[in-house]
Amino acid sequence: MIYYLLYYGVESFKFGQKDFEELLAQARDRNEGLGITGKLIYCEGTFIQILEGEQRHVKEVYQSIENDPRLIASKIVAEGLVEQRYFKDWSMDFDEVPLATINELERCEHPDVSAYVANAPAVKLLKLLSAK
Ligand SMILES: Cc1cc2nc3c(=O)[nH]c(=O)nc-3n(C[C@H](O)[C@H](O)[C@H](O)COP(=O)(O)O)c2cc1C
Repeated sequence: MIYYLLYYGVESFKFGQKDFEELLAQARDRNEGLGITGKLIYCEGTFIQILEGEQRHVKEVYQSIENDPRLIASKIVAEGLVEQRYFKDWSMDFDEVPLATINELERCEHPDVSAYVANAPAVKLLKLLSAK
């Protein structure tokens, strides 16, 4: 069984191209060493991420993320055990998604990403992570 953890977090400053590159290089490097896979998306200041792997490794990495000064807050939406990884080919896939994409997927008008993630059930966030 594979342990997964799904959370969202809010940036503490406006991320630019270089910040994403630095973050992904660091994340992919450590994930590869720990056998962690997953996907990270960024929507207008909010990160949504799924981490999957051995439970102690995923928890260890999430603890770093929780304490990372690049985020002002983070919240776990779901965690548990599954038969298989969703993102087995990626040490950390990444996409930037605008609010318009969320609204298209949901066929309605969420005013901002924070309002959306604070109320979205895990299954919706997983759909969003898998959409691109
Ligand atoms: C939005 C976000 C996502 C991150 N994702 C990962 C990740 O998937 N894997 C990882 O090792 N670090 C990730 N990091 C970086 C960690 O917070 C941390 O800086 C890094 O793992 C080094 O940890 P350490 O300082 O405890 O050694 C992420 C950070 C942020 C802000």
